[in-house]
Amino acid sequence: MCGIVAYVGHRDACPIILKGLKRLEYRGYDSAGIALMNGDLSVYKRKGKVSDLEEFIVDKDVHGHIGMGHTRWATHGEPNDVNAHPHYSSSKRIAIIHNGIIENYAALKTLLLEKGHTFQSETDSEVFINLIEDIQQNSKCSLPEAVRLALHEVVGAYAIVVLSKEDQNTLIAARKGSPLVVGIGEGEYFLASDATPIIEYTNDVVYVNDFELVVIRDGELEIRTKEDVVQTPYVQRLEMALESIEKGGYPHFMLKEIFEQPRSILDSMRGRMIAESNHLMMGGIREFENKFVNAERILIVACGTSWHAGLVAEYLIEDLARIPVEVEYASEFRYRNPIISERDIVIAISQSGETADTLAALELAKSKGATIFGICNVVGSSIARATDAGAYTHAGPEIGVASTKAFTAQVTVLSLIAMIIGSKRGTLETTKLHQLMVELESIPAKVERALLLDVQIQEISATFKDATNFLYLGRGYNFPVALEGALKLKEISYIHAEGYPAAEMKHGPIALIDEHMPVVVIATKDSSYEKIVSNIQEVKARKGRIIAIVTEGDTTIPAMADYVIEIPETSEHLVPLLSVIPLQLLSYHIAVMRGCNVDQPRNLAKSVTVE
Ligand code: AGP
Ligand code: GLU
Repeated sequence: MCGIVAYVGHRDACPIILKGLKRLEYRGYDSAGIALMNGDLSVYKRKGKVSDLEEFIVDKDVHGHIGMGHTRWATHGEPNDVNAHPHYSSSKRIAIIHNGIIENYAALKTLLLEKGHTFQSETDSEVFINLIEDIQQNSKCSLPEAVRLALHEVVGAYAIVVLSKEDQNTLIAARKGSPLVVGIGEGEYFLASDATPIIEYTNDVVYVNDFELVVIRDGELEIRTKEDVVQTPYVQRLEMALESIEKGGYPHFMLKEIFEQPRSILDSMRGRMIAESNHLMMGGIREFENKFVNAERILIVACGTSWHAGLVAEYLIEDLARIPVEVEYASEFRYRNPIISERDIVIAISQSGETADTLAALELAKSKGATIFGICNVVGSSIARATDAGAYTHAGPEIGVASTKAFTAQVTVLSLIAMIIGSKRGTLETTKLHQLMVELESIPAKVERALLLDVQIQEISATFKDATNFLYLGRGYNFPVALEGALKLKEISYIHAEGYPAAEMKHGPIALIDEHMPVVVIATKDSSYEKIVSNIQEVKARKGRIIAIVTEGDTTIPAMADYVIEIPETSEHLVPLLSVIPLQLLSYHIAVMRGCNVDQPRNLAKSVTVE
């Protein structure tokens, strides 16, 4: 995990790289560094954020038209100045930035030490650059050729960029398992982990494939495989507005992304459903419709928030399409020797499309013959490209580490999928389907109304900001929402929180309840309403402090709860799209009031490309 940016062209490389690194800082923020070619090959790096690096280089000579930069999320060696990237080889003739993990670095390091190479850092990345140098010295080949040969020696994941002091006009890059995009401008080229640092300058990009080597030399781009076969670059035009990746006046990306949900939900159903004309269609599914209709079982693999969206899908698909669904943590699934058949459909859900565990789980399922369907937000991401078919969520770039709009976009797409399969299988009758379509269309406007709760939620947040524990309870479709609410609070405010199915409380967690325990109960009007009212009584009897999320107009629960948040009424099937909104806002405001770094919480990173 980390962000990499490189530039070659007619402009000064340093400002372009620093700006790009800031856009990529959500991918890692342990340290930042830059290498520039200006006759020499100069490296500047610092522990901390890109702003720390900026301060450090104020009085340095940072001119040069070719360079590369890195923002790190440490895997090998603590975050400090020495372990920061870029890393020189022993001779300091060449330097590397690396995103990923070299799994066989220890064995390679032993060999290289025996041959006289020296190391400054504890990183696996420094081993990689010394390996390249070693190959070049021994086989007396060109640097691109040495990089290509090194790709045969390393095991693991990487996106790398290599610069050489002796070749002031060449950028070399390669990837396997970590993302890498080339931007093609007028007489200039960009390299980055995703397109956000690039689109300010050009919309023409090439997504580099695994085991490909990129050489940009004297204004020419050449891509060849690890096996030395020259490839024709496939240039795509990206339609991504620059404003969409900036904060747009909000103090944090997370708040901006919460408030974007009316639009992002709409975007995720756009073109796929028009209730009035009974139009319901998803390009990604059409070709595989028969497989979905005849599936014996649907397996969902995901992590974190995406896993919670998967749990909502379990309720939706089992109820509307009557196909058994199992929702799996990708990290467990991949190591469990799971039983998978060719009649299974595996749905991988991932905002980033780069989560290593999810990618590995789907590769495993693929090897056993299952059909793989992907639901990703990032276009051209590794998971999107590894699946047989899929649907993008179209939520736009999500920069805040805590996922918000990606979750509601995932649930929207999964609702559409459940409706499509249910109608094709005949398990969802036409009138009910139509009602659901009308209801789904009204969701963006209802989310807009739910967002008006922001002021009330700020007040509640002020009351509870110093709590040390929280319990979140929900039943049915609101059970995954309880898990998601607890995860949001944990990750950005560092308050311990547990999500629980409300009825399970009496089997243990009820012992935690006393007058200090805030209990968030999601108790909208649905088929388990009466039951959850009883669960609220159980908490009240033990003096717990209830914050209830209820349906507008409810009079029963407000008589029992300490705080009541009313959300618009909707179908039980779609309620997570509304009930999650106040929980996102609650965690956001509590975290801000506790002085936490909301967009970049400690120890986390946006995409987890390591195991
Ligand atoms: C969400 O708030 C988390 N930061 C995290 O759980 C995330 O959902 C998980 O890492 C999966 O990421 P993905 O959707 O990009 O695969
Ligand atoms: N494994 C490398 C390191 O720990 C790269 C980590 C990253 O992707 O940021 O430095």
